[in-house]
Amino acid sequence: MDCTVIIEGREIKAKANSRLLWAALDNGFFIPNLCALRNIPKPFASCRLCFVEIAGQAEPVTACTEPVVDGMTVKLQSPRINRLRKSSFDLLLSNHRLDCSHCDRNKRCDLQIIARSEHFKLTNKHLKKIDFNLPIDSSHPCNSCLACVTVCPVSALYLKQPQMKVANV
Ligand code: SF4
Ligand code: FES
Repeated sequence: MDCTVIIEGREIKAKANSRLLWAALDNGFFIPNLCALRNIPKPFASCRLCFVEIAGQAEPVTACTEPVVDGMTVKLQSPRINRLRKSSFDLLLSNHRLDCSHCDRNKRCDLQIIARSEHFKLTNKHLKKIDFNLPIDSSHPCNSCLACVTVCPVSALYLKQPQMKVANV
């Protein structure tokens, strides 16, 4: 069934229960996103960049997980949304080399597009560096299920045994 959704004051049509992120993007609205994939039924929702506000909901929600409901009214920009997106962006950059001039993705990179659209600086000089030389904490039992590595949005976690692979990531 087709629903009517109002995004930034403009009415669009979208399928009930489809994801708000794709409905917005398909209708010409940009919402920053990195981890969403169209062919995955259950979104990872790990990059935390796609926050939007929905009238009647107390807190911003991630557009990649939010189902379309008839009559929903959506805001794509607000100080709250901006703060949340900026924190997520900083987390991503805190573990990033940012050597754009030597990078294959330069000029066609999603991080660069998001930085431009959100007016974020593409720099991590103001962020604390992650120290990868810390000892492994062996005080907790670990059954090597890899769940922590899979969900970590900034790749700060890594495999104890490098030859192991993280499935579907
Ligand atoms: S071009 Fe993009 S992926 Fe490459 S270093 Fe720059 S920000 Fe990172
Ligand atoms: S696209 Fe990554 S959390 Fe929504």
